[in-house]
Amino acid sequence: TKYFALLPAAGVGARMAANGPKQYLSVGGKPMLRHAVDAFRASPLVAHTYVVVSPEDGVIDSVLPADLDGVTVLRCGGATRMDSVLNGLRALDGQLADGDMVMVHDAARPGLTPALIARLIEGVGDDPAGGLLALPVVDTMKRSAPGAEGVSVSAATVPRNGLWSAQTPQMFSYALLLRALGSAPDANAITDDASAVEMLGYAPRLIEGHPRNLKVTLPADIRIAEMYLAEKED
Ligand code: C5P
Repeated sequence: TKYFALLPAAGVGARMAANGPKQYLSVGGKPMLRHAVDAFRASPLVAHTYVVVSPEDGVIDSVLPADLDGVTVLRCGGATRMDSVLNGLRALDGQLADGDMVMVHDAARPGLTPALIARLIEGVGDDPAGGLLALPVVDTMKRSAPGAEGVSVSAATVPRNGLWSAQTPQMFSYALLLRALGSAPDANAITDDASAVEMLGYAPRLIEGHPRNLKVTLPADIRIAEMYLAEKED
């Protein structure tokens, strides 16, 4: 089996309120995207890494020079994360075989390591439903309802037993992922790849990830990511 990585990196990072797209913010002295790309490049299990950026992206050439081995930039990002992944998959038509495995990974998760990539590949094995890194939820989960004067109130407690937070990479065969994303009803409702695969009736495996693989969303997350990057990898 051959394993490929596909990184959607065409977002604008609206929640960071920073200058420019968050995948290019410096984390530990390197652009955020470069950390994730380097984890895949360092993994002996990964055949090639593809990065999907916006057609208007003017920064990528300095972050991923054209002569960097093992990486190809696809300038076909779309309006949503799902569109960026789907456009990237379609651009690889004829280059990837149906049974090749594709690991989709957010450019905004700089803490990925070759050890976590290996854990995902080993954990999924030859399961046709694929799988993803995830962590059991630690907080008590509340279902909100609209209350008086525009506040939200807690209408119920959702048992956290059995709830996981999805991380990436999420890995599926090329054919399954293309079919799942191509038939998903609403791109805005699809916040990860596994949800589209679940809609086809598959149950992807949950493989325990790691807190270091957090998604950088808020400015303070950069400091947390830097703390993990300074630690010895597991
Ligand atoms: O905004 P969020 O953190 O959910 O984005 C997750 C990933 O999807 C990021 O790597 C971002 O660059 C990517 N993305 C994309 N195309 C979009 C929106 C987000 O590739 N239109």
